[in-house]
Amino acid sequence: MSVVHVPETDVLRRQDPELAEILYGERERQATTLQLVAAENFTSPAVLAALGSSLANKYAEGYPGARHHGGCEIVDVAERIAVDRAKALFGADHANVQAHSGSSAVLAAYAALLRPGDTVLALGLPYGGHLTHGSPANFSGRWFDFVPYGVDAETGLIDYEQVRTLARTHRPKAIVCGSIAYPRHIDYAFFREVADEAGAHLIADAAHPIGLVAGGAAPSPVPYADVVCATTHKVLRGPRGGMILCGSELAERVDRAVFPFTQGGAQMHTIAAKAVAFGEAATPAFAAYTHQVVANARVLAAGLAAEGLHVTTGGTDTHLITADPAPLGVDGRAARGLLAAAGIVLDCCALPHAHDRGLRLGTAAVTTQGMREGEMARVSALMARVLRQETAAQRARAEVRELTGAFAPYPG
Ligand SMILES: Cc1ncc(COP(=O)(O)O)c(C=O)c1O
Repeated sequence: MSVVHVPETDVLRRQDPELAEILYGERERQATTLQLVAAENFTSPAVLAALGSSLANKYAEGYPGARHHGGCEIVDVAERIAVDRAKALFGADHANVQAHSGSSAVLAAYAALLRPGDTVLALGLPYGGHLTHGSPANFSGRWFDFVPYGVDAETGLIDYEQVRTLARTHRPKAIVCGSIAYPRHIDYAFFREVADEAGAHLIADAAHPIGLVAGGAAPSPVPYADVVCATTHKVLRGPRGGMILCGSELAERVDRAVFPFTQGGAQMHTIAAKAVAFGEAATPAFAAYTHQVVANARVLAAGLAAEGLHVTTGGTDTHLITADPAPLGVDGRAARGLLAAAGIVLDCCALPHAHDRGLRLGTAAVTTQGMREGEMARVSALMARVLRQETAAQRARAEVRELTGAFAPYPG
């Protein structure tokens, strides 16, 4: 990959050096530290080119062929291409690519299927549910009556029998499956069966695994869920944004729930960038990438477990790992701080059935950089040395710099 943005950033440097410095600084930070935030990735220069294009100037309320603004004939083509590529990539009857974010996609899914006050079953926040799955601080918890299901205290796996029992007891209008931190594949067929028995809609919030689904490295929720919500910026490696997939019978309701119900004008530069990302995701190279993401995560998880961290569910099927560093003598927050000082960037997360917070990390970005199993073994060993405070931050930072220097996200 080569950097295509040099002329534009030169323009910025001349006009607004203060902001240009910030952009260069962030590019440097991303290139010289290890990006293990599970929700992040490095988009391609082609995706960045679409994002930084003149499509950012265009107002386009409505849908292709039915806009409330003039001059949409060209951006209409971009949106049609994005929709067609998303439908083909995921085998869906319908795709809405206008959702501004993953949260906007979930809001629109609720708007399409529910009324305020309806009961919804979703993974509880302490077990890895997202804010939009019933947090009292979010529209979801304010406007709907969420009933949380959990994970088994021993195995960390979704308590499927609890899901069935709660669905029978509460007769929800919708069941949500999906998580910010669940490292295993979800049994979508099971959720479908339970939803059918309860007369509920099934909403899959596949924000995290959707990129793996695109590459064939994770099972698809599309054949099972009434509505699939997703983000385009995680493993899928597109621009920051959301997407909704559904059957043709719900297409109109979903589209109306996005615009005009929850959003205004579509962001055409982002939609064009989504189209570029869907095009990339349809290639054999992307399929190979997603399988490498999982292989890397498995080695990283096994390495961390061998070093003594408690890895939730004992491993991973995906790009995502959660782990309790307590056996190494630090809690999640302290661990994140130690690792950040060493140039290893990741998140804290709630740990199921635990008081202290743990660590959440993922392999999407480092795999895009070209790292493989050998590098993951090295990273897990380095993380353990940092957490045990056997290696000083400065020394660890030098090791991280050496590693990232060999795997530049945007070479050239
Ligand atoms: C399961 C799930 N749903 C929704 C979202 C929200 O996405 P966004 O941050 O784009 O609003 C996320 C983001 O990480 C997520 O993991």
